[in-house]
Amino acid sequence: MAVDLLLGLQWGDEGKGKIVDVLTQNYDIIARFQGGPNAGHTLVFDGNKYVLHTIPSGIFHKTALNVVGNGVVIDPVIFKKELENLDQHNINYTDKLLISRKAHLILPTHRLLDAASETSKGKAKIGSTLKGIGPTYMDKTGRNGMRVGDLELDDWKDRYKALTDKHIKMLDFFDVDIQYDLDELEAEFCRGIDKLRTLEFIDSEEFLNSAIKEGKTILAEGAQGSLLDIDFGTYPFVTSSNTTAAGACTGLGIAPNRIKDVFGIFKAYTTRVGSGPFPTELFDEVGETMGRVGHEFGATTGRPRRCGWLDLVALKYAVQVNGVTQLMMMKGDVLSGFDTLKVCTAYKYKGETIQHLPYNIEPENIEPIYTDFKGWAADLTGMTEKETLPQNLVDYIQFIEKETEVPVKIVSVGPDRKQTIMM
Ligand code: GDP
Ligand code: IMO
Ligand code: MG
Repeated sequence: MAVDLLLGLQWGDEGKGKIVDVLTQNYDIIARFQGGPNAGHTLVFDGNKYVLHTIPSGIFHKTALNVVGNGVVIDPVIFKKELENLDQHNINYTDKLLISRKAHLILPTHRLLDAASETSKGKAKIGSTLKGIGPTYMDKTGRNGMRVGDLELDDWKDRYKALTDKHIKMLDFFDVDIQYDLDELEAEFCRGIDKLRTLEFIDSEEFLNSAIKEGKTILAEGAQGSLLDIDFGTYPFVTSSNTTAAGACTGLGIAPNRIKDVFGIFKAYTTRVGSGPFPTELFDEVGETMGRVGHEFGATTGRPRRCGWLDLVALKYAVQVNGVTQLMMMKGDVLSGFDTLKVCTAYKYKGETIQHLPYNIEPENIEPIYTDFKGWAADLTGMTEKETLPQNLVDYIQFIEKETEVPVKIVSVGPDRKQTIMM
């Protein structure tokens, strides 16, 4: 059988966790392919809210297996907390959560290096989640990293110590004051490792390819969003992995010709957390309303998310890079009550009108050109059938479909699993 991919098309937080949870009933395996605890995927059902960082969003279903792929970076300390949260809610995961031996480990000193790097950058900082993501992927590509499979070797502690010593020396290069207690950090790390060891470590590429041969269905879950991709995002204000479709191939060991559908998730407007350019960002009461109604605060860091109108130029770019076959529009309910909605359909760039994302989208180079749409007043949050959606929302969706040449298959009208309309 084939593999379907689900990924974010904007700057993250599109609602990937919710939709993976909704779709899990159709799959045997949910596999996370990149990112780490910088992600925060929110699921709401039966009156409970859960935030997952590293664990795939299929974990709440009885039968689906959940795989943390080789492309993911795992912080055992945060992972332990995630598991303990599941323990508290009596969610059984031991038999259905499998960890790739090739996934890299985030060491406590990776987090310290992240903090030192950000502090030393001052105003130019990336706005990292400070989870050690960048330094861990740097050690991966620099061929210095520690992997989950190393924990099965007798000398894993020596390897840990050698890498930590190196990091401590690197910290001295940054001219910043980072306070830490190495012994306490190490003790906490080891407790995390002990908890991690209660799960099964697998050769995930073998496991997944065998599953494909056996006719099992797999949904690959992305983290972050396409505009945070290390190659195609708004560099350098990006994360350190490939968040786009190609990342699922390298992050799981699945060949491109095994991929069938690519589900692209986007918000009906746009948000971004952290630094970096954002052409349609609003600094007025409209943006403030989006943030308030949409509860736009980071699920991992609690930082307020910057808000703005939908940017169709950027969305079309993401659709193209990922080969999206189905769109899923989230948070349409948040736009209820606006008289006029704006959608960016082109940019004014160096005096010219362009319809593509140029190399440099810093605010001084670019001005969004908007098309206006009539808003709708109706509260969407109780709606369950597509026939009940207001006509002005249908017009908004149809315009997006025409521009992207991809159908919108799901419209989400609230955070709950049930607030999901199949189109
Ligand atoms: P992810 O990182 O892509 O999984 O998204 P996050 O969980 O970080 O952020 C999405 C936020 O929007 C969460 O608080 C969700 O509970 C919430 N959410 C998801 N879909 C909807 C929706 O259709 N309407 C509203 N109002 N909230 C939603
Ligand atoms: P999910 O999966 C939104 C942003 C950070 C920062 C930049 C780099 O929940 O959509 P990093 O910690 O990776 O070095 O930070 O990327 N960022 C996210 N923004 N959602 C996320 O994940 C993000 N993960 C990282 O805010 O700007
Ligand atoms: Mg999130």
